[in-house]
Amino acid sequence: MRLNLRIWRQAGPNASGRLVDYVAERVSPDISFLEMLDVVNEGLVVKGEDAIAFDSDCREGICGTCSLVVNGIPHGPDRGTTVCQLHMRRFKDGETVTIEPWRAKAFPVVKDLVVDRSGLDRIVAAGGYVSINVGGAPDGNALPIAKDVVEQAMDSAACIGCGACVAACKNASAHLFMGAKIAHLSLLPQGQVERYRRVVAMIRQADAEGFGSCSNEGECEAVCPKEIPISNIARMTRELFRAVLAGGG
Ligand code: SF4
Ligand code: FES
Repeated sequence: MRLNLRIWRQAGPNASGRLVDYVAERVSPDISFLEMLDVVNEGLVVKGEDAIAFDSDCREGICGTCSLVVNGIPHGPDRGTTVCQLHMRRFKDGETVTIEPWRAKAFPVVKDLVVDRSGLDRIVAAGGYVSINVGGAPDGNALPIAKDVVEQAMDSAACIGCGACVAACKNASAHLFMGAKIAHLSLLPQGQVERYRRVVAMIRQADAEGFGSCSNEGECEAVCPKEIPISNIARMTRELFRAVLAGGG
């Protein structure tokens, strides 16, 4: 395939950026989107030009590091798929593909397609630790938890912290991310001791980081590569109400 690429280039956080046109020749439909960018970068390096900076790590859809807006959609056109798992067969020969970084005030551009997502890490850090009784290794089934509760908690724990929900939201809200983290621990017995302190601290941290609020647009759920349901946000709101009533707010 031959693709016309329009890629956001920005030399640094304070430089002005712009979309630059590139042509990718002989692109195999079997390679991934990030491998296609690797090939483009090899060509740039051979010509002595600056390679396009972009984030990736596992390239297996599990680490949340990759973060590209492809044709206006965080992680690209395939539902429930990270951009590292997106394949070039999804595109047509001769197509123009626009590639941009996550766009949010709380995610400043570092270079080209790389943004600083450490605000999400600070929200998780604000959530703090989980108290557990240490001692001998407990039996696997010593703490029975209902199957539906475990499954809900595990579904929420599937969040990989990529930030696509923030990038898709017109308010740049991190509510789906926070909702997933808060629901995961609030559902399990292990998360009960700090339950109310956690929700208040994480929401305060998100406000301090400059993430916006939620106006129920649903864009976050639509782009989430792990298909985290928006019901996690409602659960987080209920947790906050309970925290306020319990005097934790
Ligand atoms: S909720 Fe989904 S989109 Fe948001 S950070 Fe987690 S995995 Fe990414
Ligand atoms: S590089 Fe790890 S999820 Fe995409």
